[in-house]
Amino acid sequence: MSYKWARQNGRTIPAEDKIFALSGRAKAMMEKEGKEKVINATIGTLLDDSGNIAIISSVMDAAAALKPTDICEYAPIGGTPDFKATVKKAALGSYETGSGVEVVASPGGTGALRNAVANYSAEGEKVLTSDWFWGPYKTITGELGRQLATFPLFDENMGFNIDGFEEQVNEICARQEGLLIMLNTPAHNPTGYSMTDGDWDKVIEVLKKQPSHKKLALLADTAYIDFAGDSEKYRTFVRKMDSMPENIVPLIAYSFSKTLTIYGLRVGALICLAKTPEMGEEFLKVCQFSSRGTWSNCVKAGQVLASNIYKDETLFAKVEAERKKFRDILAARGRAFSCGVEEAGLPLMPYDSGFFACIPCDDPAGVSARLEKKGVFVVPLAMGLRVSVASVPEDVCRKLPGIIADEIRQG
Ligand SMILES: Cc1ncc(COP(=O)(O)O)c(C=O)c1O
Repeated sequence: MSYKWARQNGRTIPAEDKIFALSGRAKAMMEKEGKEKVINATIGTLLDDSGNIAIISSVMDAAAALKPTDICEYAPIGGTPDFKATVKKAALGSYETGSGVEVVASPGGTGALRNAVANYSAEGEKVLTSDWFWGPYKTITGELGRQLATFPLFDENMGFNIDGFEEQVNEICARQEGLLIMLNTPAHNPTGYSMTDGDWDKVIEVLKKQPSHKKLALLADTAYIDFAGDSEKYRTFVRKMDSMPENIVPLIAYSFSKTLTIYGLRVGALICLAKTPEMGEEFLKVCQFSSRGTWSNCVKAGQVLASNIYKDETLFAKVEAERKKFRDILAARGRAFSCGVEEAGLPLMPYDSGFFACIPCDDPAGVSARLEKKGVFVVPLAMGLRVSVASVPEDVCRKLPGIIADEIRQG
């Protein structure tokens, strides 16, 4: 489709955002038919068992205590110094890197991804991710004139498909000057997969085989890390990234959207584990320049809020305790869903933790459309159905696979 007034700029823009449209129809059906008649497992925010957004009350208390200047003033383009220190603490945990850690603030994790694509890939190039991926990866790359290439995430044993990864890396690197790879882990959206330390080792080995003049960048998109499980256990990958050779830029996209359940405040950052001071300085320079040309500076209130929480041990302990309660609820839902899937005799992509799980099937769009008629809303992806265990109660997580199985079998 071409536009009458606006410019196409090589983009393919869908008529509607599939997930928001689906969720909108679920809400409309709830209003018309009653809440109890509808299961809306499309939503990407954590909801409590009554269907309300899960809010960490101690975060809200800290938000209420913000000063007018915390809200009204501009923040520096790269983020306030306090915020940068907070991001290091929040993203890396207790891990002491051998590298210089540089941080550039961004509007949520999405902004961090955009900054990575804008600066660590070139126009017309391919950016690599897995075949199960979060839709906006395609939007961001397309918007910036890049192409999104994919490798098969799982092999026949449902483990990380290192051969598929290597094949794509070799093929793309043979044709372009460098390559940005974006891996969403832990608690991957949409499958809930978390890469193991062994997966990381293999990925890094593959990249090390590329000629050293190739400009490589490896990005870990950690949007769901604080809802995956034990904080230290899920951060061991930082050590792996920290030990990569100098021609591979280690990047981490971090977001407070889920961590503090402040999706609307748009607080996140791109982190570089810079091997050398030059790598760090260049990272700051290019990312801050891109920030200035897109969103300029980021919301100061969110930066001060996150910093105040991480600076105050008592407050931080309260926030962590509240978040743990929600994380336990989410984990229980994930277990209930996995049990339900087994009982229903359905396949499930390897789910470890997080907001979403995926049931592979033929004709996901058809199955989802038939489910919708019965008041069950799940997101059809290219290779299966994405179910948000974050947005439905445990008992629904348990029975949902049975409903889906009936529909798949009837189709
Ligand atoms: C895979 C993935 N990456 C990054 C994000 C970034 O989210 P935000 O920009 O709200 O921080 C999300 C949010 O849904 C996501 O699912």
